[in-house]
Amino acid sequence: MQEITFRKPSDLHVHFRDGPMLAAVVPYTARDFRHALVMPNLVPPVTTTAMAAAYRERIMAAVPEGLDFTPLMTCYLTDDTDAGDLVAGFRDGVTVGAKLYPAHATTNSQHGVTNIRNIRDVLVAMADAGMPLLTHGERVRPDIDVFDREKFFIDEILVPTLEEIPTLRVVMEHITTADGALAARSFGDRVAATITPQHLLFNRNALFEGGLRPHLYCLPVLKREEHRLALRQAATSGLPNYLLGTDTAPHLRRDKEADCGCAGVFSAPVALEAYLQVFEEENALDRFERFATLNGAAFYRLEVPQETVTYVRRERYVAEQIEVGDQSVIPLHAGKSVGWSKLGAGAEH
Ligand code: NCD
Ligand code: ZN
Repeated sequence: MQEITFRKPSDLHVHFRDGPMLAAVVPYTARDFRHALVMPNLVPPVTTTAMAAAYRERIMAAVPEGLDFTPLMTCYLTDDTDAGDLVAGFRDGVTVGAKLYPAHATTNSQHGVTNIRNIRDVLVAMADAGMPLLTHGERVRPDIDVFDREKFFIDEILVPTLEEIPTLRVVMEHITTADGALAARSFGDRVAATITPQHLLFNRNALFEGGLRPHLYCLPVLKREEHRLALRQAATSGLPNYLLGTDTAPHLRRDKEADCGCAGVFSAPVALEAYLQVFEEENALDRFERFATLNGAAFYRLEVPQETVTYVRRERYVAEQIEVGDQSVIPLHAGKSVGWSKLGAGAEH
């Protein structure tokens, strides 16, 4: 296939940050996606409906003219979340979900939930309202190996919660293992999972290829080859439980190339093309629209976008770096090329 046309996709997991970084990165996502579901792990985190509404305005101010783009907002759950405010924000259409960051699991998660029992009433209120819970699915304990964190989360937190609150709807964010892929399809349409491009493209060897590769360091960390293959099978299966969510997570180059470097892959400038490469390699381009557009719209009960986009099989060079003030961020595939290019206006990144 030399060309593919599909309805404009939704990126159901992005980090836009704030200030100059927000201004630099929002245009990449807004050009390629109809919606983006925006993570709330700012400093300080977006913990209330009012904060989510204010953040939405700052994002809209960074969207280039003429693009039909909608940010979908989320709140960050803490031990002290006010269930009334949270659910009112969802019912009023300000937010589409709430994010569970286990404390200390990832970037800016220090205000996260210390014990799932502390938010039981909040989860029940969310279930009653039909408000999805979005999970950073890692169990963080000194005795749990970093590569096993996802499985421990599924067994010790996710499955017991789904069983205890049978109407709660959950998105397992950025699954990285075969266990994650299996769990996501084991609860009917109550549970879905986002899958990032880097977890489809790379196994953990890539972190050490020729030396330490900080720009491929993200959380959850890349896993073994068997897990990458299971994720590719899941994403291309056509099942409704798997959603496009890039987890594009920009950090300044100096913060990535540092001792105690930050976790996150900045994929927004090439994410769509990277997913297309995976679907092409798996002979599944005919299922791309389900993963990229339709499954997410169904789970989040969004209108299916009508605008279509066309990508052609043509190489496109990816910039070495992108400026943010007097600093820079390094995109996925920096200085290399991707095999697909968007046709028409706004195609140049
Ligand atoms: C994300 C970030 O930088 O905010 N980092 C990452 O490695 N994915 C946080 C997250 O999604 O875990
Ligand atoms: Zn993320």
